[in-house]
Amino acid sequence: MPVYEATATAPVNIACIKYWGKRDTSLILPTNSSLSVTLDQDHLRSTTTSRADASFEKGDRLWLNGTEESIKEGGRLAVCIKELRGWRREMEEKDGGLPKLSSWPLRIASYNNFPTAAGLASSASGLAALVASLSQLYELPQTPSELSRIARQGSGSACRSLFGGFVAWREGKLADGSDSLAEEVAPRDHWPEMHALICVVSDAKKGTSSTSGMQRTVETSPLLQHRLKVVPDRMDKISKAILEKDFDTFAQITMADSNQFHAVCLDTSPPIFYLNDVSRSLIALIEELNRAAMLTTGHLVAAYTFDAGPNCVIYALEPTMRLIISTVNRFFPQEGHFPDPFGLFEGQ
Ligand code: PMV
Repeated sequence: MPVYEATATAPVNIACIKYWGKRDTSLILPTNSSLSVTLDQDHLRSTTTSRADASFEKGDRLWLNGTEESIKEGGRLAVCIKELRGWRREMEEKDGGLPKLSSWPLRIASYNNFPTAAGLASSASGLAALVASLSQLYELPQTPSELSRIARQGSGSACRSLFGGFVAWREGKLADGSDSLAEEVAPRDHWPEMHALICVVSDAKKGTSSTSGMQRTVETSPLLQHRLKVVPDRMDKISKAILEKDFDTFAQITMADSNQFHAVCLDTSPPIFYLNDVSRSLIALIEELNRAAMLTTGHLVAAYTFDAGPNCVIYALEPTMRLIISTVNRFFPQEGHFPDPFGLFEGQ
C-alpha cells in the first residue's frame, strides 16, 4: 500500500512595511500592502507533515509542537484545508485514475523550532508550511502566488512565507480577495549581503494578539487613516531600494514604518504597547550608531524593526553585522543564546 504523506518547511518572514489592519476579517484582506524579508537560515522555521489515509477515523486532526489543536469548523485552519482539498477534488474529477485523497481524513503534525506566538511570526511560518505540505501531498499544480491566497486566509502574513527573499503582499482591490496575494520582489541571492539579527528580548506569549489588536486599531485609530495614505509610496520606494541595493533608503523606510506601526498601536483605544524598555533602548542604540556612521561615512549601518512584540530584528549588510553584534553585546551583555531570553541570533 503506498503511503500518502508530505513534509514541507517554511521560514519566518519579517516585515519592513507592516501589515496592520483588515478590510475583510473573514477573507483576511488587508487595509494596506506590505513587504517582508524571508529569513533563510534554519533556526526560525516551521516543519509540517501531512498524511491522508482512507483508514483514519473520520475527521481531520492536527498537532502543534506535539499538542493536539482543534480544527474548528469554519475556522482559519479548516478554511485552508477545505480550499486545498477542493483543488485536489477538481483534479480527481478530471483524472479518474488519481487516488481519491480528497475524501480521506488528514493527520497533520507541525513543529516550530522557536517560541510560538512571541512576536516572531510563528503563525506565518506555521500556516505557510501547512499549505506547502498539503499542496505537495495533493500534488497541486498551483503556483506559490496562487497558494499564497490560501495561506493568507490562515494568517495574513503567512502568504509572504511561501516565497524566499524579498516579498510583497499586494492588498488587491477585488472583494473576493482573488488579487490579494504575495509575489516576489527579488530573490534571496539578489542581495546576499543583507543579514538579519534577531534580538530576543522576551520569548513570552504576547499580550494582545495581532487579530484583536488589528481590529481595535481599525475601529479606533485616526492615525491609521493617515498611514494608509503613505504606505503605497513607501512600497514603491522600498521595492526600488531593494532592486538597486540601496541600503540607506531601505533602512530609513524600514525604521520609519516600524515606528509608525507602533505609533498606530499607541493611537488605538485602549492603546496597545508591544515595545518595552529594552526595545526602546535598542532603538536608541541603533539610532546612535547610524548618527555616528552618517557623520563619518555618510551612510546608515543598520535598520531596526519590531512586530507585535518586544523582540528586535536588526537588518544590516554583512560587512557591518559584526560591528552591530559586538555593540549590542557590549550594551546588552547576556549569557547563552537563543532560545534563552534575550538571545542574539544572526542569519540571512
Ligand atoms: O499575520 P498576523 O495576523 O500574524 O499579523 C502580522 C502582523 C505584523 O507581524 C505585526 C506585521 C507583518 O506584516 O508581519
